[in-house]
Amino acid sequence: MGNVNIAKRTFDVVIVGAGGSGMRAALHLSQAGLKVAVLSKVFPTRSHTVAAQGGIAASLGNVKEDNWHWHMYDTVKGSDYLGDQDAIEFMCRAAPEVVYELEHFGMPFDRLDNGKIYQRPFGGHMQDFGKAPVERACAAADRTGHALLHTLYQQNVQANTNFFVEWMALDLIRDEEGDVLGVVAMEIETSEVMILQARATLFATGGAGRIFQASTNAYINTGDGLGMAARAGIPLEDMEFFQFHPTGVYGAGVLISEGVRGEGGYLINKDGERFMPRYAPTAQDLASRDVVSRAIATEIKEGRGCGPHGDHVLLKADHLGDAVIRQRLPGIREIALKFAHVDPAQEPIPVVPTAHYMMGGIPTNYHGQVVAPYKTGPEEVVQGLYAVGECACVSVHGANRLGCNSLLDLLVFGREAARQIIEDLQRSPHPKPLPADAADRPLARLARLETQTNGENVAEVGAAMRQVMQTHCGVFRFPDLLAEGVAKIRAVAERVQRTAIKDHSKVFNTARVEALELDNLIEVAQATMHAAAAREESRGGHARDDFPKRDDDKWLKHSLYFSEGHKLDYKPVRLKPLTVESFPLKARVY
Ligand code: FUM
Repeated sequence: MGNVNIAKRTFDVVIVGAGGSGMRAALHLSQAGLKVAVLSKVFPTRSHTVAAQGGIAASLGNVKEDNWHWHMYDTVKGSDYLGDQDAIEFMCRAAPEVVYELEHFGMPFDRLDNGKIYQRPFGGHMQDFGKAPVERACAAADRTGHALLHTLYQQNVQANTNFFVEWMALDLIRDEEGDVLGVVAMEIETSEVMILQARATLFATGGAGRIFQASTNAYINTGDGLGMAARAGIPLEDMEFFQFHPTGVYGAGVLISEGVRGEGGYLINKDGERFMPRYAPTAQDLASRDVVSRAIATEIKEGRGCGPHGDHVLLKADHLGDAVIRQRLPGIREIALKFAHVDPAQEPIPVVPTAHYMMGGIPTNYHGQVVAPYKTGPEEVVQGLYAVGECACVSVHGANRLGCNSLLDLLVFGREAARQIIEDLQRSPHPKPLPADAADRPLARLARLETQTNGENVAEVGAAMRQVMQTHCGVFRFPDLLAEGVAKIRAVAERVQRTAIKDHSKVFNTARVEALELDNLIEVAQATMHAAAAREESRGGHARDDFPKRDDDKWLKHSLYFSEGHKLDYKPVRLKPLTVESFPLKARVY
C-alpha cells in the first residue's frame, strides 16, 4: 500500500489523549517552546478526567499532620506490595508540589476556613503508617477532575498547544529498529487519514473500563493506547488487576465518589447493619477499594443484599445533612437524583461494585519512557515512545489503586514524561525517515471494515465481549469461569476480526469509530482474561476463589502479556525505593 496520497504533518511531540496526563505533559512541552500536537476523540474538556470526583492525594497536612512517607507507605500497602517502590516514592514526594502548581495555574480548590486547600479523608490514606485515617484528598467539591481539566485546558490554550479535536489515533509507526516515529490518525468527521510524524509520541489515552458491562467509565474509554501498543508488539503489564469501585449507582454504573464516605457516609446491608467494621476494624468504610468491594460482594453472596433481588447494598449519607451534601457533594446529589431517583439527604443510595480503573497498562519507568523487549531482544527503552496516566503501568498502583492517587499520577508523571522528552529530544534533534509501510496496518484495518462481506455486527460483538468479561472476570474469580472465559474471549476476538460496517447509507463515522475501538478493547479484554487465569493467588483487585491467599514466594512479580501468541512472561517488582528503606512485605489489614 505504502504512504502514497496520505497527508503528513510533523511535530516535535504528538500526544494521544487530552485528559489530565496528556494536558499536563502538553503544557510543560509547549511552555518549553516545542511544537506539540494533542489528539483527542472528544473536545479536550470532555476527556474522562472530567468525571473524577473526590480529589487529588497529597500530604499537605492542612487538616491533620501528614507527610509523603506515610503517603508512600499507604500506597505500597494499597498496592498489595506489587507497586514499584521507586516510582511510588517519586510520586508521593512530588505530590504537594504538583498540587501547588495547579493552585497557581488557577485551579478552584475548595478552601478551609483558614484559606488553605480543603482536604478530606479517602480510602486507605492513613496517618503514621496506617494508624488512623487522615485528610489527604485535595478537593474541588466532588468535581475535582472537572476543575483540573478546565484549568489545564486554559493553560494549554495560552501556551499554544495544537489540538486535533475529534481525531482518533489508529496505529503506531515503528521502524525496523523498533523506534517509534509517530502515529497514523483519522479525523472522525471526514475519515481523512493522516500521518503525524514526531520525534516523541506520548500515549495518554486513559483506561478501558468499557471491556465490562457495568462500568463507571465513559464510552470513550476503549483502551486505544493499549490496543495500538499491543498491535505494535509491545507487551501489556499487570492486566489481571482491574479495580471495581465499591459504589457505582446500582443499575446505572455511574460513580458515587468515595468522598461520600470521606465526608462520613457509610454502607449498610438489608438489615440496616453497618457491615464494614466486620471486614476492616480500623479503617471501616475507608478501607481500600478492593477490600470494600469484596465485602459488598460477600454481603450480597451471603444473602444480606438489598432490594427484591438482594443484589446491591445501600450508601447512607442522610445523617450528613442537606447543607453538607449541597456544599461538599453537589454532583453526587445530582447523580443520585437522576440515576437512582433518591435524594441522598433523605434516603440511602443503592450501590454495587462497578468496574472503574485498570491498574495495568503499557510498561514504563517513572520517567514515562516505555520499557519493553523488541522482538526477541532484552527489555529496553522503546525510543520515541512514552506513556502516562491510566494507560501506563509505572507501576505505582500495583494490584490495587488508592482513591485520589490517579489524579496525582496524571500530574506527576505527565510533568515528568514531558521533562524526559525534552531531555531526550536534545539528544536526537532530527526526525528519522518514515518506513514505506508506515500506514499499511491502519489502512488494512479500515479496508477490512469496508470490504468484509456478511461481516459481524460491531454492537453485537462488543456486547458479547462485555458479557464474557462481566461473567468470567469480576470481583471474585473462579477457576472454571476463568478457563471458560479464556476460550470465550478468544472466540469473540475471532468475531472482531470479521466485523464490518454494514449499511453505509445509515451510518455516520461513529460506526467506523466504534469498530476501530473494538479492535482496541478486545486486546485489553484478552490480556485481562489470560493474565487473570494464569495468576494463581489473590492480591489486591485480583481475588481467586481457589487461591484465596497472597503468595509472595511464587507471585511477587509483574505479568507481561504479549498479544502475539497470547504469551505471558513475568518480571520482578522494584522493591527498592529511591532514598528510603523498602517497606517489608506484611499481611494487609485495615
Ligand atoms: O471515589 C472517587 O471519587 C474516585 C476517585 C478515584 O478513582 O481516584
